[in-house]
Amino acid sequence: MENNKKKIGVIFGGRSGEHSVSLMSAKFVISQLDPEIYEISLIGITRSGVWYSGSDVLEALIKEDDRNLEPDAYISSLLGNAKYDIKAGELIEHLKGLDVLFPVLHGTFGEDGTLQGVLEIEDFAYVGSGVTGSATGMDKAIFADLMVANRIPIVDTVLILRSEISEQMANVIKAIEQISYPLFIKPANLGSSVGISKVKDRSELIEGLLDAAQYDRRLIVQKGHNVREIEVSVMGNDKPIASVCGEILPGEEFYSYEAKYHDETSQAVIPADITEEQSNIIRTYAVKAYRACDLAGLARIDFFIDKDSDEIYINELNTMPGFTKISMYPQLWEATGIKNQDLVEMLIEYAFERKMQRDSIKRTFRRDE
Ligand SMILES: Nc1ncnc2c1ncn2[C@@H]1O[C@H](COP(=O)(O)OP(=O)(O)OP(=O)(O)O)[C@@H](O)[C@H]1O
Ligand SMILES: [Mg+2]
Repeated sequence: MENNKKKIGVIFGGRSGEHSVSLMSAKFVISQLDPEIYEISLIGITRSGVWYSGSDVLEALIKEDDRNLEPDAYISSLLGNAKYDIKAGELIEHLKGLDVLFPVLHGTFGEDGTLQGVLEIEDFAYVGSGVTGSATGMDKAIFADLMVANRIPIVDTVLILRSEISEQMANVIKAIEQISYPLFIKPANLGSSVGISKVKDRSELIEGLLDAAQYDRRLIVQKGHNVREIEVSVMGNDKPIASVCGEILPGEEFYSYEAKYHDETSQAVIPADITEEQSNIIRTYAVKAYRACDLAGLARIDFFIDKDSDEIYINELNTMPGFTKISMYPQLWEATGIKNQDLVEMLIEYAFERKMQRDSIKRTFRRDE
């Protein structure tokens, strides 16, 4: 018997430093999909980029054991190392039988616009931002410029190329030292605080630049402020809405990789203990940034409040934020009155809406028409 359930493909894992976070997020998203509404298909990508489908894929990836996967469970090595060189077309055919895809992928090759490009070319309905939004959210340098252009306050930021560090260090230092210490050095494109350091003098700066340069071709250096960290969840397409604000209280000096995933002392305060005025300003900036970056579906947008001056700055945004039971993104919505199950359903509806918007775009133009 034909059923009317929506066929959804949940994609997880991937070639990213946040592979295991993705598996945790996917597990939670799947647990919130109502089986009365959705027929779920699991699609897992290994750390080396091999795509598998099948009901046991998530558990196998969690156990870091793809030997348990039946050889015929893999469908392709699309976007990855061609270890099992099966035609990418087979994967596409499998996916095309689905109504919508939910890439619960964080970081490179999943959250940065590359996967979104493939999905656009193949005309899929999928959850989350498209190519531009994803890529903008991922590149801290482009993001900073876009914020400046839209008059959304962001801390002083300088872009440095890796090649400039090796060829003209003196000029690089001169440009950076226009800003006063302490400084934050960040790879432009990595998440999860990898390669980030806080430096307080020139020798630490040089060390930090060399370290960060291992992780990316492009780095940013920013003025370090004494900050509170406020986060807000946004969802929607052309009319995005913002959740209440939450505050992260890092257990360490800054919200490092350790603090994020291994340190139990980091805490979230929801709603954040800030004034209504501060909350309104932050939520307004969040929606403005969402629009400016052409985001869709969902994003978590992170802000700083300078403890000394009370100035508000946007820090960054994540187009596929952590999505576990204890993650800020769903928790902020819960505190705003939207249950996890409804949230996931709304995100999927936004994916269908986006697809409809795309389908209505006129793609051909002839002078004589
Ligand atoms: N300019 C700054 N002033 C003060 N603290 C900062 C500054 N930039 C970053 N930090 C601290 O470092 C942490 C990590 O920086 P950031 O959020 O830019 O990168 P990320 O966390 O690696 O990116 P993602 O959230 O995508 O994983 C922040 O949460 C904050 O604690
Ligand atoms: Mg961050």
